[in-house]
Amino acid sequence: MSTTTTPAVARSRSELLALRGTGPVVFVPTMGALHEGHATLMRIARERAGAEGTVVLSIFVNPLQFGPDEDLDRYPRTFDADLELAGAEGVDVVFAPTVAEMYPDGVPHEGPDGVVSEAVTVQPGPLADLLEGASRPGHFRGVLTVVAKLFGLVRPDVAVFGEKDYQQLALIRRMVGDLCLGIEIVGAETDREPDGLARSSRNRYLDAEQRQQAVALSRALRAAQERAPYGVPAARWAAMAVIKSEPGVELDYLALTTTGLGELPDYPEAGTEGRILVAARVGTTRLIDNLPLTFGGAR
Ligand code: PAF
Repeated sequence: MSTTTTPAVARSRSELLALRGTGPVVFVPTMGALHEGHATLMRIARERAGAEGTVVLSIFVNPLQFGPDEDLDRYPRTFDADLELAGAEGVDVVFAPTVAEMYPDGVPHEGPDGVVSEAVTVQPGPLADLLEGASRPGHFRGVLTVVAKLFGLVRPDVAVFGEKDYQQLALIRRMVGDLCLGIEIVGAETDREPDGLARSSRNRYLDAEQRQQAVALSRALRAAQERAPYGVPAARWAAMAVIKSEPGVELDYLALTTTGLGELPDYPEAGTEGRILVAARVGTTRLIDNLPLTFGGAR
């Protein structure tokens, strides 16, 4: 269902509580700068909530998940346009708290011995040390902490996340299971531009030339998909060949993993499902993408 009603806006915990309906609550957590990929998540949420349920979308640029040299200050903030898109997709409530509302005692920080300040935060476990976690230390502690807080405030029955942040989605599923949070997590396939570029709020940073160069990420993933029947080395080689052919793309990592982000043998059994994940810098913009792979059958 799609409506053009402007959603109710809650800025504080108490305003949010007052707007929570009695039916099922389906939640879409975001950092705003909404695009067509978020619209897909909102559509899924609206469908899951049905006429009786409430769709809540949060917009919060979470300082705890940004490193000191990252783009917290310049992260796009487009509240009015976000509200319009949320309304068009049938969102009932937009929760847009301030930093002080989310972190009344201040944003937790590292102490001199690496220990987090007095606040309780979520320790994400070893899955958070790989890939994005290796490049962005502390990132997933920030993500899981804010998601846990948002879950506590919104109290959803279902929450919808994009697969573009594949490692984030895996960690959120793990947190919900390990901490017995009782929330159904729905993963939505990555939304793409017609030329294959994964939709992302950070695509706005790219100039015209960089926008062209950035397509190499999805082309590399698709090349790997085509070669996956021949095994991991062939798939990796195909992806790397695309990345190397585009000098504007500075690779951070390219990883072929199991669906659970574990290690793969070079030649998995025919039919084995896996994942290829990439992160790279185009100019000063760091982009990520991933796709599923199916191995074997062509050796
Ligand atoms: O994926 C995002 O936009 C953010 O990491 C999330 C889940 C909203 C937490 O800040």
